[in-house]
Amino acid sequence: MKLLITGGAGFIGSHVVRLFVTKYPEYQIYNLDALTYAGNLANLTDIENAPNYTFVKGDITDAKFLEDMFAEMGFDGVIHLAAESHVDRSITDPMSFVMTNVVGTVNLLNAAKNSWKGNFEGKRFYHVSTDEVYGSLHNPEDFFTEETPYDPQSPYSASKAASDHFVRAYGNTYKLPVVLTNCSNNYGPNHFPEKLIPLMIHNIRNNKPLPVYGKGENVRDWLFVVDHARAIDTVFHKGTLGETYNIGGFNEWKNIDLVNLLCQIMDRKLGREEGTSAKLITYVTDRAGHDLRYAIDAHKIMNELGWQPSLQFEEGLEKTVDWFLANQEWLDNVTSGAYQSYYQGMYANR
Ligand code: NAD
Ligand code: DAU
Repeated sequence: MKLLITGGAGFIGSHVVRLFVTKYPEYQIYNLDALTYAGNLANLTDIENAPNYTFVKGDITDAKFLEDMFAEMGFDGVIHLAAESHVDRSITDPMSFVMTNVVGTVNLLNAAKNSWKGNFEGKRFYHVSTDEVYGSLHNPEDFFTEETPYDPQSPYSASKAASDHFVRAYGNTYKLPVVLTNCSNNYGPNHFPEKLIPLMIHNIRNNKPLPVYGKGENVRDWLFVVDHARAIDTVFHKGTLGETYNIGGFNEWKNIDLVNLLCQIMDRKLGREEGTSAKLITYVTDRAGHDLRYAIDAHKIMNELGWQPSLQFEEGLEKTVDWFLANQEWLDNVTSGAYQSYYQGMYANR
């Protein structure tokens, strides 16, 4: 199996790459990543010398580069995670989301289609997507199922919805062997500190304000990133082609309750008096078009494929806080941006 994983230097991709490289020594794993601000090879130092692992620096918006690489390598499988992933950035710069998430995905579909030439035996194109394509829930009884109509509300979720539609269209039109998953909010080690949980941990540690959007009433459904990587492994190997599976851990939290819980954990870990960190909470202007609530119904993947999340949220959050406290250098590098030129120079064209 020659397996291409895109976006493997990012948050979720790095956990997927690590899982596949260590669990499947018989596979050749190729990690294709453009190393944008969110891509960081320091996420993979523990496996970078594994004999079944190769990093390739490249951009999925470059169609010719992808066509050449597929023709040369003859991949059997693709797990596609490369994307612009942050909702706030999509509000200020939607076009980069169109380019990477929509155009980049179609480039990848074309490269796979042209390389496989209708011979799909043993081939698989797996597209990793988000629950945000379903829009926002307003009735507390409701959950997103695989049948929920698409209703994306942000430029990010619109771009991911478009990419999902293209993947399904290639499955329908060209019979490309596709499978998709739509997952809830991930958290854990390597999470880029522009996102809620790592940003709060970083700011609490540095005694900086904790910006809570609006009234902090919005609800997100959190899953430990390693459990998402395990679900991707399950669907890649056992999922039915043409199907979609929702992934989530039935773990909804109001933002303000989550931030308060993080403050409590951090007070304890840093030896601060209880209540110290919560004083940093600062309510700020709401995100434009802020989705109220996401909640995944994950019964299909649980019942049909036997996947279950392995960690309780409190345990996962403790692990995450411990990881960030033990990896202050990682955080400093990521927030200073210095890691970019260093690692790009070190690994370019390897
Ligand atoms: P991330 O921003 O941490 O990582 C994205 C990676 O893609 C980075 O390594 C970046 O360098 C790479 N990349 C970006 N543009 C590229 C391009 N043009 N060519 C090649 N590589 C490029 O993102 P993440 O949070 O790890 O998300 C990964 C995937 O999972 C995305 O498709 C996202 O939509 C999806 N997803 C994320 C979450 C979440 O909670 N983070 C939840 C559900 C689904
Ligand atoms: O649901 C899956 C999605 O989860 C993924 O597809 C996205 O790639 C991922 O970024 C995430 O999107 P969110 O917008 O839900 O995540 P974020 O961490 O940006 O925000 C989580 C919630 O916290 C959201 O309601 C906005 C709020 N928030 C966020 C930040 C960064 C704040 O209140 N303050 C902040 O500073």
